Amino acid sequence: MTVGRFPATRMRRNRHDAWTRRLVAETRLSVDDLIWPIFMIEGDATTSDIASMPGVQRVTLDRLAAHIAPAARLGIPALALFPATPAEKKDPDGTESANPDNLICQAARLLKREFPDLGLIGDVALDPYTSHGHDGVLRDGTVANDESVAILARQATNQANAGIDVIAPSDMMDGRIGAIREALDAAGHEHTRLMSYAAKYASAFYGPFRDALGSEAALKGDKKTYQMDPANGDEALREVELDLLEGADMVMIKPGMPYLDVVRRVHERFAVPTFAYQVSGEYSMLVAAIERGWLDRDRAILESLIAFKRAGASGVLTYFAVEAARLLRERDAG
Ligand code: PBG
Repeated sequence: MTVGRFPATRMRRNRHDAWTRRLVAETRLSVDDLIWPIFMIEGDATTSDIASMPGVQRVTLDRLAAHIAPAARLGIPALALFPATPAEKKDPDGTESANPDNLICQAARLLKREFPDLGLIGDVALDPYTSHGHDGVLRDGTVANDESVAILARQATNQANAGIDVIAPSDMMDGRIGAIREALDAAGHEHTRLMSYAAKYASAFYGPFRDALGSEAALKGDKKTYQMDPANGDEALREVELDLLEGADMVMIKPGMPYLDVVRRVHERFAVPTFAYQVSGEYSMLVAAIERGWLDRDRAILESLIAFKRAGASGVLTYFAVEAARLLRERDAG
């Protein structure tokens, strides 16, 4: 690369006017980059706030279409669906996950009817359904990999049968992508995509999400025997490579902002659709500072999201999706 020297070169020239800044912008955030995670609860006529995620709500199915309508209107491409399971339906093996009439399956049928063009991403992991809160089944005190994978494959097929377009395994068991791909194909779902939570870290930033689903109260111990150590980056590349070999169509890094180096490395190494999840704790951190008047809301939201694009992400799962889409519409309208 040839670079001139000061004073012939003045980096500030291209920043001088808004129109040059627009011309030289290297990345652009658009509504096409946004995936909106949604929380659902059983029952009727209920919208409930999540204390640790101000502005995010859980809704019952009769309110789901109205809840989703703004996202569909703004052109958000896809939703990620997260069901809360009442304690009485949880058991050690998470059997509710295979119930064809469970909350996420009902939601999928309803949303496909009301919004046929909206992509539906289903979380596959057992933690919403297990009484011990782990993503797999416990045998002799440890999360049993292969037995969990067999259950996850049934969970994934169940969701695909209900109309889920993208299966997103967030459980971090070994070999689950291959097993799920095989199960989906055997059930005639060869077009169902797999977005693998390939590098998912054992993170403190999931706290508010677990509040939202009541899985923190249920969780016995921690998830460090299956989720990754925050100290590791090379290991993430191996995780991604394995998932791609097993048939992942898209990969995800999670959490987002503390792991942008991983997003960048994965994107450069594999050049595959790479997503990042701006998780609940990242959302809550920003909102807490915004509520105290310490950060400018609109600017902080958009800056936090463009960072993912700059790092090489194809898109971002974010609780700010609807708000960001509105801000981007306003920007584009001038
Ligand atoms: C569950 C799952 C988690 C998240 C998405 N799927 C939590 C966990 O692994 O404990 C976290 C999302 C967020 O914090 O926003 N398998």
